[in-house]
Amino acid sequence: MNVDDVLSAAKAAVHGAGDEASLEQVRVRYLGRKGEVTALLKGLSKLTPEERPQAGAAINAAKSRLTALIAERKDQIAAEQLATALAEEAVDVTLPGRRPGSGGLHPVSQTLARVEDIFTGAGYDVFAGLEVEDDYHNFEALNIPPYHPARSMHDTFYFDDGTLLRTHTSPAQVHVMERQPPPIRVICPGRVYRRESDLSHTPMFHQIEGLVIDRNISFAHLKGTVTEFTRQFFERDLELRFRPSYFPFTEPSAEVDVQCVHCMGRGCRVCSHTGWLEIMGCGLVHPNALQMSGIDPEAWSGFAFGMGGDRLTMLLHEVNDCRLFFENDLRFLEQFR
Ligand code: DAH
Repeated sequence: MNVDDVLSAAKAAVHGAGDEASLEQVRVRYLGRKGEVTALLKGLSKLTPEERPQAGAAINAAKSRLTALIAERKDQIAAEQLATALAEEAVDVTLPGRRPGSGGLHPVSQTLARVEDIFTGAGYDVFAGLEVEDDYHNFEALNIPPYHPARSMHDTFYFDDGTLLRTHTSPAQVHVMERQPPPIRVICPGRVYRRESDLSHTPMFHQIEGLVIDRNISFAHLKGTVTEFTRQFFERDLELRFRPSYFPFTEPSAEVDVQCVHCMGRGCRVCSHTGWLEIMGCGLVHPNALQMSGIDPEAWSGFAFGMGGDRLTMLLHEVNDCRLFFENDLRFLEQFR
């Protein structure tokens, strides 16, 4: 190998080294103790004394040329690395900051708050009631004695001590009547529990109870209240239909249907092609229910209603599966912020 060949191979290798480590390998390969340039120097001893000075000078020149090239390449690599790092870690200080994600009220909580707003605006109080009830408040005081068939409509969760998870918000009415003399205007929103679970039922759901007791309260007051409520809640003038029904604690009783908010009564999947959606049960408070809670049915009368908070939310936002409310998928919940 002659000096020129070694030098040009070394130059190419220096140029090709992309980082400090491979550059160091190149240095060792040519200038190290067993390197190729070092080997050339060792080979001088085989030359004649006449040849030696010239060859020695050429090898030394190549050696210092290569040392300089390596130092130069080393600086270059460092500069390149700095440039890349600066480009990668660049911070645009003019960008707006990222705010921490903020939560929001669950759509059903929003509905309960919306209903509370409407009724407190009309002078009603709010009373949450108890989620763990006794048989007396959940059934008996509502004119549902132990043998009453209406009990089978409520698949009840019982505790060992005889208490139970309330199956509806109606027992809150009883607590209010026991505590407060008439006139009474109250709504009671909250969680209720039943042993059922399928497409349209979850074991925990929400109800909003309403109770008004005063002198000479009639069905007309109930109708007016429900009509005004639905107008405010859905922000539309929707037709209402009062269907005769039965509840042990009201007489007469009715179920209220509202014109389907989805198809405006023409008939669609949401309303099972009937054009109507059921939104609540209601009626005039049964004299037995008044009496049991210490209110004289001769002197006072009242109306009550109970509606589903989850169902109202589904109708308001056109959600088609109530289980979505309990899966806590943020992609669903974020749409209601
Ligand atoms: N508590 C009833 C239920 O869960 C709903 C209900 C109907 C409540 C009529 C009332 C009412 O206050 O008057 O099915």
